[in-house]
Amino acid sequence: MSHPNPHIDKVSILGTESICLGFHIFDYLVRDTLSNFKASTYVIVTDNNLQKLYLERFNSSFDKISRELAAASGASAPALPRLLTYVIPPGETSKSRAVKAEIEDYFLAQGCTRDTLVFAMGGGVIGDLVGFVAATFMRGIPFVQIPTTLLAMVDSSIGGKTAIDTPEAKNSIGAFWQPKRIFIDLAVLETLPEREFVNGMAEVVKTAAIWNESDFVLLENGAEAIRDAVLKPVRDVEFQGATLESRTSAQQLLLKVVMASVAVKSYVVTHDERETGMRGLLNFGHSIGHAIEGLVTPKLLHGECVAIGMIKEAEIARYCGYLSQVAVGRLTRCIQAYGLPVTMEDRLVKNHIGSQYCSVDELMRILRVDKKNMGSQKRIVMLSGIGKTLEQKPSNISDDIIRKVLAASTIVLPRPINVAPVTLSPPGSKSISNRALVLAALGRGPCRLTGLLHSDDTQVMLTALTKLGAATFEWENNGDTLLVNGNGGKMHIPDSELYLGNAGTAARFLTTVSVLVPPSSVPGRKTILTGNARMKQRPIAPLIDALTTNGSELKYLESQGCLPLEVTPFSHGLAGGEIQLAASISSQYVSSILLCAPYATKEPVTLVLTGGQVISQPYIDMTIAMMKSFGVSVEVLPNNTYRIPQGPYTNPAEYLVEADASSATYPLAIAAITGTTCTVPNIGSASLQGDAGFAVNVLRPMGCTVVQTETSTTVTGPAIGTLKALPHIDMETMTDAFLTASVLAAVTLPATPGGDNVTKISGIANQRVKECNRIAAMMHELGKFGVTTSEFDDGIIIHGHDIASLTPPKDGVKCYDDHRVAMSFSVLATIVPGGTIIREKKCVEKTWPTWWDDLEGKLGGRTSDIDLGPPSEHHDYEVSSSSLTSNGKRGNGRAVKGDTTIVVIGMRGAGKTSMGRFAAKALKRPFEDVDHYFERKLATTIPNYIQEHGWPSFREQEAKILTELLEQYPTGHVISCGGGIVETATSRDAFKKYTAKGGVVLHLVRSIDEIETYLNKDETRPMYGESMRDVWSRREQWYRECCNYEFVVAGQQLKGIEAEDAKEWALVESNFERFLKVVTNAGDQGQQRGIQAQVVAKPSFFLSLTFPDVSPALPHLSKLTLGSDVIELRVDLLKVRENDNISFRSHVAQQVSLLRRHSSLPILFTVRSVSQGGQWPDKDVEGMVSLLKDGLEWGVEYLDVEIVLPRSEIDEVLARRGNTKIVASWHDCKSEVAWSSDAMEAQYSLAKSISPDVIKLIGTAKSMRDNFECADFAASHSANTEDLPLIVMNMGAQGQLSRVLNNYLTPVTHPLLPIKAAPGQLSAREILTARHIAGLLPAKQFYLFGSPISQSLSPLMHNTSFQSLGLPYKYSLHETTAVDDSVVAKMRQSDFGGASVTIPHKIEIISKLDVITEEAKAIGAVNTVVPVKDEQDKTVLIGDNTDWLGIYYQVERNLDATTSRASRQQMKGLVVGAGGTSRAALYALYRLGVQEISIYNRTMVKAQAVADSFQGLFEVNVVGAGALVKSGSSESEFDVIVSTVPGTIDSSSMFDETVFGSSARKGVAVELAYTPRVTRFLKLAKQAGWATVEGGQVLVEQGGWQAEKWVGRRWDLASVQAQMDAAQAGRQ
Ligand SMILES: NC(=O)c1ccc[n+]([C@@H]2O[C@H](COP(=O)([O-])OP(=O)(O)OC[C@H]3O[C@@H](n4cnc5c(N)ncnc54)[C@H](O)[C@@H]3O)[C@@H](O)[C@H]2O)c1
Repeated sequence: MSHPNPHIDKVSILGTESICLGFHIFDYLVRDTLSNFKASTYVIVTDNNLQKLYLERFNSSFDKISRELAAASGASAPALPRLLTYVIPPGETSKSRAVKAEIEDYFLAQGCTRDTLVFAMGGGVIGDLVGFVAATFMRGIPFVQIPTTLLAMVDSSIGGKTAIDTPEAKNSIGAFWQPKRIFIDLAVLETLPEREFVNGMAEVVKTAAIWNESDFVLLENGAEAIRDAVLKPVRDVEFQGATLESRTSAQQLLLKVVMASVAVKSYVVTHDERETGMRGLLNFGHSIGHAIEGLVTPKLLHGECVAIGMIKEAEIARYCGYLSQVAVGRLTRCIQAYGLPVTMEDRLVKNHIGSQYCSVDELMRILRVDKKNMGSQKRIVMLSGIGKTLEQKPSNISDDIIRKVLAASTIVLPRPINVAPVTLSPPGSKSISNRALVLAALGRGPCRLTGLLHSDDTQVMLTALTKLGAATFEWENNGDTLLVNGNGGKMHIPDSELYLGNAGTAARFLTTVSVLVPPSSVPGRKTILTGNARMKQRPIAPLIDALTTNGSELKYLESQGCLPLEVTPFSHGLAGGEIQLAASISSQYVSSILLCAPYATKEPVTLVLTGGQVISQPYIDMTIAMMKSFGVSVEVLPNNTYRIPQGPYTNPAEYLVEADASSATYPLAIAAITGTTCTVPNIGSASLQGDAGFAVNVLRPMGCTVVQTETSTTVTGPAIGTLKALPHIDMETMTDAFLTASVLAAVTLPATPGGDNVTKISGIANQRVKECNRIAAMMHELGKFGVTTSEFDDGIIIHGHDIASLTPPKDGVKCYDDHRVAMSFSVLATIVPGGTIIREKKCVEKTWPTWWDDLEGKLGGRTSDIDLGPPSEHHDYEVSSSSLTSNGKRGNGRAVKGDTTIVVIGMRGAGKTSMGRFAAKALKRPFEDVDHYFERKLATTIPNYIQEHGWPSFREQEAKILTELLEQYPTGHVISCGGGIVETATSRDAFKKYTAKGGVVLHLVRSIDEIETYLNKDETRPMYGESMRDVWSRREQWYRECCNYEFVVAGQQLKGIEAEDAKEWALVESNFERFLKVVTNAGDQGQQRGIQAQVVAKPSFFLSLTFPDVSPALPHLSKLTLGSDVIELRVDLLKVRENDNISFRSHVAQQVSLLRRHSSLPILFTVRSVSQGGQWPDKDVEGMVSLLKDGLEWGVEYLDVEIVLPRSEIDEVLARRGNTKIVASWHDCKSEVAWSSDAMEAQYSLAKSISPDVIKLIGTAKSMRDNFECADFAASHSANTEDLPLIVMNMGAQGQLSRVLNNYLTPVTHPLLPIKAAPGQLSAREILTARHIAGLLPAKQFYLFGSPISQSLSPLMHNTSFQSLGLPYKYSLHETTAVDDSVVAKMRQSDFGGASVTIPHKIEIISKLDVITEEAKAIGAVNTVVPVKDEQDKTVLIGDNTDWLGIYYQVERNLDATTSRASRQQMKGLVVGAGGTSRAALYALYRLGVQEISIYNRTMVKAQAVADSFQGLFEVNVVGAGALVKSGSSESEFDVIVSTVPGTIDSSSMFDETVFGSSARKGVAVELAYTPRVTRFLKLAKQAGWATVEGGQVLVEQGGWQAEKWVGRRWDLASVQAQMDAAQAGRQ
């Protein structure tokens, strides 16, 4: 057949119709070019792939047409134009300078002049490269694009952007150069690999999504045809599609969508050629897409990344309230329909990138340099609907929002109290939606469904029904209504398998539906139903058994009893007659048969349910009721028998889908648990759904007020913490709601006073075979919070727990890919202190895709983002009923799990009970004492028991009780034991087993002298008649065997003077608290409780203590350690004093305890061997290892492990590392190894192989050069191990420079120390001075902005501290009455180090800063400016607020000692005054967790305004003067009162002493004014016995935080305070 004249469609760009589209258009394109763009030379540049496929065709067209044209020209000897061909390798690497030069050289060699035209035939690579060559060759020659990939057709060939890549960046060098023509031959797509085609579809979908809904609808509905046009092309005739006559409808559709896309791009380019505005819209999906691409190129293609980017960006728009979920759902499904991924978890993505993980931080890092950004402001295209964008350009989006959407997990924070009543419509019922879809599809005629759930489940159902040809579907009203045109039960075998993901309902319903499908005209074709891995484990056997017995043929293709299934079609479809079905596992089997039964061919179905109990009867009733709405009445007979008449369904014109009752339980439960009100307007008493009974049958008995109409439900919860346990509730009719009930049951009080605080839920056995074993999942996850649960055949038992002591799991709640687990735990999280991480947050999409948005936007909750890293690093736990006993193991010696129960053992009188109680309080855990438990349980006293039954029986019982307690409370408790418990082998075994499982057994050690003194005072305890010393010498070994941690109490005699001893105990307690932080790994939670375990200062230092006994140095310790971040205890240098009668181990233990007592710095525990430069004998490996293990037992923060030790010994130490950080060290004392040698490399690898937290490699310098080599080593090894800090330096005088250059934890000495720990060691001050001189530590200027400020104490405070730290910094006043240019100039100076901002500029300054912290935003004021450098080394000014921190920490310090209220959640706080500082005070109270916060001000409106400003974050009551004066009542209303009234104002008329009450319960009074030092307010408070905090103390505290933010290091609070006090005294 001769080549037909192709039909060409044209699109105009930049005013000319230069884009030509068609099928098989080579002849056309050559003729068009040769006729319109005459040249003497034509060059075609293409790649090897296309050379093979199309070059010959092009050449022959060229040859033929050029001759034809020459002949037609009429010239006598027409010169034929020359055609040159140049072929390059395919792929992105060809888009380089080198290849561009090659092409240019070739052109030059061939004598090409300006009279040359270039054809670029290929994908985007060819187009970009060749276009750029054309742009610059001879200052620009004409070129023509022949794009051959879909991406090139719709995107890269249009618009004139040409470029090449450099190693630094893609497309970094290029030009705008418009092609003369763009010839799009869609027929060439047929040879394009499928993945490349699909890749291009991402751009097509993108363009429709931003521009035109009707184009989008074409794509939505035409996915199969469009894919077929390219991937399964029809070839009935040669050149199919060239002419309109030969064009298939699929080709027509393909052309239509490609042309639509081309037209949009052309329009945009025409109106914004140089990308200054509108063209930015084409970047929809590209901001995040590019960020992903930056991390996964070349494993994922551009379009695949953009596809994921589009969904993420649409989710951002949804979060911001610009875009509906319907639109997000449509976009998601459309993208998926073309085979593109929508999340990073997608199978397709995983196949290509494997386990590679793209962290939120990395994505944000790339997003930061997106070219659309304006400065640091990210700009992203926001959809506002399908085919619409919010603006005609990308919109400004804050980092917080992007992070939130990108993060795979979320932190749900406690909901602010007193949220006003809310109304919320949950998504439509999945059960009703799925049933309605099947009914309307099987029914005849149109039916409009409204309120339908938009979820993966319903989408799976829609897609499957479409593939079966059961109906056609069309969205109306922007997706609110679905128009179903049912085919009355007519269906065909689908072309491909029905992939049902994990959609259980769809799998069950569609199994029977596919039995109805008649045989195809093609013999042997069958319907195949399959799903994801989880689906392939879900049972379906009872349904298959019933259907096969009825004459259908269904075969399991993999495991017996599960999908995938192959269904053989029979012309009789479902035969009918009696069908027996076992219905005790799932009612969905019953519904599946009921729904299809009317289509039985032979006789009507009689369905008999067998197997005793029928599960979920309400769902069966729901199916029957809905069938009735579609015109089929089921006859319900006795004995679980149903008769279903034959005949098709008649579709009602409209059907309204009710809200999902299970979903409705979550907002209602939030009202219940937080003591607020919520209304769900689309479900009520008339609902057919079983779970609709939740409000009345569960919430009401738990103490909620429930008001229900037929169609709505309103729940009001009782006060927080007062829900009542339900002794027994049968939830058989609402099984899915048991998860919601379980989280409520976790925080109940007993149903009756003194009764058991236990909720028992039965009737839920089926929940073991849902998305996961839900009973096991709930037990395990609740256990992580410290809640005790157990299970029985038919359900779960939950013990109510005190809210204040719930501990959110450190590694978060695992959701097992189960939406209900995620949503129910987010209910619990609304009241759990501190914030709960919910992992795999995406799983809610199954039924409530907007849950997290709604939780925050509509339910008043608060969330934050968190990236937990790749799933492989999560502590995963697979739920199966058998693995329930597994509790976090200590595994490879890594961290002890933070929530594991701590058991305290030790001698009688060592303080187990009081320290145990203290630990429980500090960790917010319940406390249990084995002795008390014993007495409670056996209803006797211990002395009585011993008298009656003797010691052996007592010990036996004691061991039993211990085992029982350890089993009952494996997590979240503190248990203290009797002293003699280690006497029995059974108990010792129990302890050992417990520590082997990762439990903590803590041995509390106190000197025997102290114990004896103490015990002599107590007569109530049983005595042995044996001396304490004898007892100790017998037991000491046992204690050590049983424990894995040891804490030495004090080391200083108690004096017997109550007040002084109390102080002493307070010190012991604070040391103990620090120790507990190491044990429970609470340190890294940082700021929240003021703990700083991470070293943040740069450079950082550790001080090597070289004393044989640290005692004499203790008084000077704060001076010695100033400027250091860690203290090293050189154990090898310690010596027991001659006349001290204690073991070396006890001496070391005491030294640790003394150091801890006198300094808050972390301890580095080092035993340095002789060959490594210390004094510990090299031969005594055993002694060293035993000491290292002791160090771990004492909970030191850092442990030095010499890598020269035998590996087996190292492993033995590491197996106990717990949460202590390991420093792997090696010292080349003899200077044998050069930094640049392989030998040094080998030491580094060896150090790394023990998985340390820090590596320390020390050389010895012989020359200055060695220092530079050392620095090079550091630079080359820290680049790729960002998280593994490196200490590298040289010893010796020659090596001092390397000490100056080392950045992290440089060992330092101090002039006051007896010896230097190593030759060449410098002090921190010397290093800083040297760094300053070397230009590594430039001087910085700090300022105070404000007016009037001449009296300010801040310069004194900050300069004192800078000086003491050895920093070359200066703090000075900048008095100004306005935040004017002078302020900005100071802040933009290159040596600007930071500023304090005071009245009156705290608000005005905000407009001059780049970023404001959350805290400063909440308070509405900035008092601290911190300059930081961004990636591009630009200074970013951060506005922060430390005023609140000053108040927070001062209150925190005083609170525990003074208030007797049980928990923060019950505390009340008052702020007096409504000026600027009152806001910081209110915020501090909020962060302290104070439950009820009030404000008083003489002018009430002002107070109201302050209160209002926190709306949405927390509630503030405005109180009148009456609330402050208490007549008659002796108890103060408040636990914390903060006065913010300026000292100069007379406050006598505001309140009197009665506000402090006179009862035993005392609170904390904080004064913010600092002149006079003791105000009237403080005087009254002091008189009333309250703890008081002076304004000066708050000032110093907040100043300390300010300094910390500027220089990364805290100052010595006490010495600064002393200086300040002196200065203040001088002034007064
Ligand atoms: N200039 C722009 O505005 C713009 C826009 C988007 C993308 N780009 C650039 O486009 C490039 C990517 O383009 P691409 O996706 O087309 O990749 P590509 O050019 O690398 O082509 C993909 C692969 O498909 C092969 N191929 C092309 N057509 C074929 C056909 N018809 N049959 C069989 N094989 C065929 C190619 O040989 C190549 O191996 C990137 O460099 C990107 O930066 C430019």
